[in-house]
Amino acid sequence: MNESIRRACVIGWPIGHSRSPIIHGHWLKKHGIAGEYGKRAVKPDELEEFLLGLSAHGLVGCNVTVPHKEAAFRIITRANPEGVSALARALGAVNTVWLDEWGRVRADNTDVYGFMANFHEGAPDWRAAGKHVVIIGAGGAARAVVAGFSQEGVARVTLANRTLEKAERLAQELAGIGEAALAAAPLSALPALLAEADVLVNTTSLGMSGQPPLNIDLSPLPDHAVVADIVYAPLKTALLEQAELRGLSTVDGLGMLLHQAVPGFAKWFGVRPEVTADLRALVEADIEREQGGA
Ligand code: ATR
Repeated sequence: MNESIRRACVIGWPIGHSRSPIIHGHWLKKHGIAGEYGKRAVKPDELEEFLLGLSAHGLVGCNVTVPHKEAAFRIITRANPEGVSALARALGAVNTVWLDEWGRVRADNTDVYGFMANFHEGAPDWRAAGKHVVIIGAGGAARAVVAGFSQEGVARVTLANRTLEKAERLAQELAGIGEAALAAAPLSALPALLAEADVLVNTTSLGMSGQPPLNIDLSPLPDHAVVADIVYAPLKTALLEQAELRGLSTVDGLGMLLHQAVPGFAKWFGVRPEVTADLRALVEADIEREQGGA
């Protein structure tokens, strides 16, 4: 093995069709870096050995995806309690792992950064002060979105979820993460909530290819509302299509995937890369190939 080549990868179980190798491969080429980024299927019972033996595996770090984000947080917190960022501790999940200059394992959660960076790119004039954000869902992705808006200083975040208790638990758990007042509601409350929402975000997998659609009537939303979806396959979900027909600003899910990759690349390869139109086009083409069944 050539020791001068820095290697990272994404781990999951199964790892299937992760797009991270396309993203990091593009940046490695663009910056002329002697590095590699692959993907590895790591079984849950192999996770600890893998994460605590990164250098033995020839790696400088990795991204962590489903279903390992929470377990990776626990493993790395036990191994190096100071090595996990405050944000990752608040979320109880990590997606980016690296070795520091002393070879100790460290981790962060860049999903919050990825979501918010993409949101601001899609809605450049948007400001947080006084805003009410309505989030559909109360799973792992909802946690990152609540944290992002709350830390930016919106006034209110309401979690609307099929299982009300789950939304209530999440609102309680994240109450101290930022300035916003957090509340929970059942999906049946959406029409009334939308009438007083400035932002609507879908954090569920509804609307993704192969999943049931997300059937929501957007007509109660005010004309200035921004609608965001974390689903990126298809790129334009039915929710975003409906929002566009209403003339509302929209933010699609692909940019979150691209932006969350930036901090990891910077840690592993020493260059902070940019999310550019050519990178986006490359990943879009891959999604379209898959959507077309090719
Ligand atoms: P992730 O960690 O990726 O966010 P998750 O924890 O499985 O995924 O959360 C999925 C979210 O989608 C949940 O809020 C779930 O609602 P419940 O808490 O009631 O399970 C929501 N969801 C999934 N399928 C749904 C459906 N058919 N109708 C409404 N909500 C659904």
